Amino acid sequence: MARQHVSFVGLMGTGKTTIGRRCARELDATFVDTDELVEAQSAMTVAQIFEAFGEAEFREREVRAVSDALLAAYRCVISCGGGAVLDPRNRSALREHSTVVWLDATPEVLFERVGRTSHRPLLANADPLATLTRLATLRQPSYEATAHIRIDTSKLDHDGTLRAVLDALTDLKGSDDRVS
Ligand code: S3P
Repeated sequence: MARQHVSFVGLMGTGKTTIGRRCARELDATFVDTDELVEAQSAMTVAQIFEAFGEAEFREREVRAVSDALLAAYRCVISCGGGAVLDPRNRSALREHSTVVWLDATPEVLFERVGRTSHRPLLANADPLATLTRLATLRQPSYEATAHIRIDTSKLDHDGTLRAVLDALTDLKGSDDRVS
């Protein structure tokens, strides 16, 4: 089956990991977080990889993690690091082998959620809100190009987001079934 998995993409702080984990439980699927997979495959944290080898090397390791997750023979719900969609290899693999859900929110809401102190290397600077705003503009086309479903989570709590995701997946499946 071509699109057996479900993937979550979106900026840092959109709740991909929390919602992904809960969604996996609902769908009786295995949860995979690509940051955790990179960390396990590297025996280093994401922050340590950025520090020791730089972002470009992290992105290569992320491509491998995304590909490994999508190759699983069993159904997975995959939470992707916020920048995974920057690589065209990830964009096409995710879109082909999974139903891609983009969890979106305004930079202001994300800033509230991630706070000022962060383990995320890209936000470890003097103005994380400015960084989130810049990344949102920069990455919007890549999220749009990758996702089958977009959920604006700005006004939703986790329960509401999960419900919106499950409803959207059901609707999409219904329309796919009608087409085929
Ligand atoms: C990144 C997001 C992080 C992690 C890394 C880079 C990004 O994942 O992959 O710090 O470029 O947006 P989360 O989105 O899960 O925080």
